[in-house]
Amino acid sequence: MTDLKTLESDVLAQVAAAADLAALDAVRVAALGKTGSISGLLKTLGAMSPEERKTQGAAINALRDAATAAIADRKAGLEAAELDARLASETLDLTLPAPYRRKGSVHPTMQTMDEMVAIFAEMGFAVAEGPDIDDDFHNFTALNFPPKHPAREMHDTFFFNPKTNEDGSEAERLLLRTHTSTVQVRTMMSQKPPIRIIAPGRTYRCDNDATHTPVFHQVEGLVIDKGIHMGHLKWTLETFLARFFETDAVTTQFRPHHFPFTEPSAEMDVQCDRSGGEIKIGQGTSWLEILGCGMVHPNVLRACGIDPDEYQGFAFGMGVDRLGMLKYGMPDLRDMFSSDSRWLAHYGFSAFAAPNAASGLS
Ligand code: PHE
Repeated sequence: MTDLKTLESDVLAQVAAAADLAALDAVRVAALGKTGSISGLLKTLGAMSPEERKTQGAAINALRDAATAAIADRKAGLEAAELDARLASETLDLTLPAPYRRKGSVHPTMQTMDEMVAIFAEMGFAVAEGPDIDDDFHNFTALNFPPKHPAREMHDTFFFNPKTNEDGSEAERLLLRTHTSTVQVRTMMSQKPPIRIIAPGRTYRCDNDATHTPVFHQVEGLVIDKGIHMGHLKWTLETFLARFFETDAVTTQFRPHHFPFTEPSAEMDVQCDRSGGEIKIGQGTSWLEILGCGMVHPNVLRACGIDPDEYQGFAFGMGVDRLGMLKYGMPDLRDMFSSDSRWLAHYGFSAFAAPNAASGLS
């Protein structure tokens, strides 16, 4: 009996001393495993007389039960402690300051757009906006594109599938605007002249190479007032370009062109120097095509409810991404849309330096 008591207190002491689950398992094997100390005692029962077995058997079984229960108890305790330790080590204190990460930057397209808005705002233009998804009327018809005219195809338009009317007939199909001239139409239809707006925004055409992407950005300008002529247009654009390229003056030329919504229409070239690796505006002997413009076509004024005998106007449209590339020396337009963080870290702008007329553009 004394042996049993000693063994019990030994085993219980070992259980209590087991520091982790592996040590506890070793104690279990040593006591209750195949060749364990308590298992060994159980095996001696067979050789005992029935009386002996009665007393000894009960005592040995009690010892086994006590050891089993102590082990289970300790195991649960150790497991709980292990979980607590893990939870404690894995806590996340959301009130701590965030670790340093690379700062975001303003995308060159947005920077360029902000610069353009700052310059035109100073010249008295308001910013007007319209939807990216528009209809045939605002993108083409009101802008004097004749029905079925190839110019509609020239714009490489992304059309949506036509919706179905309640009577089963085909409803008009919407499109992704191919230019922000849609905003000219919306402005003329909702405001009375004099009008002086720019329409910055995203535009879409099914085109993709080093100088064209399916999504790009335009800033379009529109002025409607009495007695407006091409001299006003030329001064506005030259003043804008000199400020944008941060030179004292630029030399420009109008080249005759065709747009259905302007008459006369022109493309404007700016004098530049291409002799080095990069294009320099404001010097040199080359010309660079930079934008489309013209006097608003009387049909467009009429379609928007403005009397062309009373009011005239000019409009111009330019590619924001392209102007950004020229100003900041990027070789491929597609990079502008690739979301490569290394490219953005190199070409991006500080969010704290918003372009404005007082402290400068870039
Ligand atoms: N909407 C023309 C384009 O996207 C640009 C333009 C605007 C030309 C206004 C003339 C006048 O190509």
